[in-house]
Amino acid sequence: MKLAITALPLFATLFLASVAEAQTLTRDGSALYVSYCASCHGMTGKGDGPVAIALKTTPPDLTRISARNNGKFPLERIAKVIAGDGSAARAHGTRDMPVWGPFFSRVENDQDVGPVRVDNLARYLRQLQTK
Ligand code: HEC
Repeated sequence: MKLAITALPLFATLFLASVAEAQTLTRDGSALYVSYCASCHGMTGKGDGPVAIALKTTPPDLTRISARNNGKFPLERIAKVIAGDGSAARAHGTRDMPVWGPFFSRVENDQDVGPVRVDNLARYLRQLQTK
């Protein structure tokens, strides 16, 4: 019984930590990428994630975005593609790619940090570019 009582604060701490984790979604671009993008686009962005074969549209190689765009990384357009905003998204036609804007928009401390996450992801993809 004594053991159970001493262990209680530990369990309480672990429980609270897991609740906190469920409520906060990271803003870190690379962590978001691993959790939400790598399944299709692959860990390195080359389009070889485990889910890729199940898709009608092959996920594009995200390390060659600049190469496909005359050597320039179109940061704003890519952020729109990720968020699923308007024409930039529709230009991608099929939309086998999920829309992430609403998902990432979780209000924290009265502030919607969804656009911050999308921007961090776009910047992370910029780092992945090969010449
Ligand atoms: C369910 C599979 C899937 C997941 C998960 C996914 N994508 Fe995609 N993505 C696609 C497919 C398929 C395309 C290309 C066709 C389309 O747009 O529908 C695409 C296209 C893109 C493009 C456009 C590339 C270009 O050259 O214009 C970007 C950028 C992108 N994805 C980023 C991401 C990011 C960032 C995430 C994570 C937040 C993500 N994707 C998650 C399947 C996925």
